[in-house]
Amino acid sequence: QLPCTVRDLSEAAGIPAMQIQRILMQEGVMAKINDTMDEELTEFIAAELGVDVDFVQPVTLEDQLLTSIREAEDPEDQLEPRPPVITFLGHVDHGKTSLLDRLIGINVVSGESGGITQHIRAYQIEKDGAGISFVDTPGHEAFTEMRARGANVTDIAVLVVAADDGVMPQTEEAISHAKAAEVPIVVALNKIDIPGIDPNKAMADLSANGLQPSEWGGDIEVVKCSAITGEGMDDLLETLLTVADLHEYKANPHRSALGTSLEAQQESGHGVVAKVIVENGTLRVGDNVVCGDSYGKVRAMFDTLRPELAIQEAGPSTPVNLLGLDVAPAAGEHFYVLDDIAQARELAETRREQTRKETLGSTGPVHVTLENLFD
Ligand code: GTP
Ligand code: MG
Repeated sequence: QLPCTVRDLSEAAGIPAMQIQRILMQEGVMAKINDTMDEELTEFIAAELGVDVDFVQPVTLEDQLLTSIREAEDPEDQLEPRPPVITFLGHVDHGKTSLLDRLIGINVVSGESGGITQHIRAYQIEKDGAGISFVDTPGHEAFTEMRARGANVTDIAVLVVAADDGVMPQTEEAISHAKAAEVPIVVALNKIDIPGIDPNKAMADLSANGLQPSEWGGDIEVVKCSAITGEGMDDLLETLLTVADLHEYKANPHRSALGTSLEAQQESGHGVVAKVIVENGTLRVGDNVVCGDSYGKVRAMFDTLRPELAIQEAGPSTPVNLLGLDVAPAAGEHFYVLDDIAQARELAETRREQTRKETLGSTGPVHVTLENLFD
């Protein structure tokens, strides 16, 4: 396996490490037993020793398990309709949180410090018996990564543009995320209640950014609305549902769950609370989960809209607050349910070990190559 340490070669070839170190020393390198060598150098040493080497690709547990989970095809007859995941994106203060609050009839915005969304929020509501999931992202430029993530778990992007401000830097960034994710974009042209506003200016901005409004002959629905007066809100929801209906989103609730962690933190009294969204399958209390370099048994799950409401299982497109992971996974990490908690632990620990090695970097074992050997 590469990179090969002095010890690896010694063990594989049945030759004392000292002998390998002696050859390296003759070439002017003091190599320790855990120093690694690249393919060329390993072959050079092997030739000196008169042995043949073959390099093998390591098959990691990660490759085996997760690839098979990721790539498992869902039989057609197990697929069922799932709620669309609709994400609000846009420039800071253009009204993403206010619009979402208005749509789902809660008031988060007034409780936010400084009115700036610090967290990614995700809620599921029911409308005419069908679910709709919403994700709200922060517009502040410090949250680029979070916004990118928002566009990855999403089916439909609501691009919120304040009519008085038009297209701004984070609007452009949101447009490029949505385009990269290849999801349909619906524009919420917000704040049209502001006196003297000319919505045509923002519409011209949108056209200039490749989003041609349908009322100007293009294919982008631009809904004029106001989160303050409520004007256009029905229209916005209607438009979103129409787009969702066109796509007939489906998933397989009959398999074990996989999805994405949106954010996570240590909360006193609860341990790690991870906000995750199930993308496929059904997540249940008691499931063994691995998420990045964290793992654990799902101890409890709570509704994101009613945090005191415990839930036993969460199907496709459902966001939940999950308890039971040992450490907070990085935002955007995928999670998988495994049959065996020992496998989950092994995967998480392998990744931790990898991260540790990478951060050790220069202080770790020396990597010797033919080039630096003959320097
Ligand atoms: P970040 O999360 O910080 O990116 O902001 P946001 O896009 O979520 O905006 P938020 O909903 O917090 O609204 C920002 C400000 O605009 C608040 O003061 C809102 O009251 C105001 N606002 C939102 N929608 C409207 C609207 O339709 N009309 C008017 N006049 N003001 C609005
Ligand atoms: Mg906000």
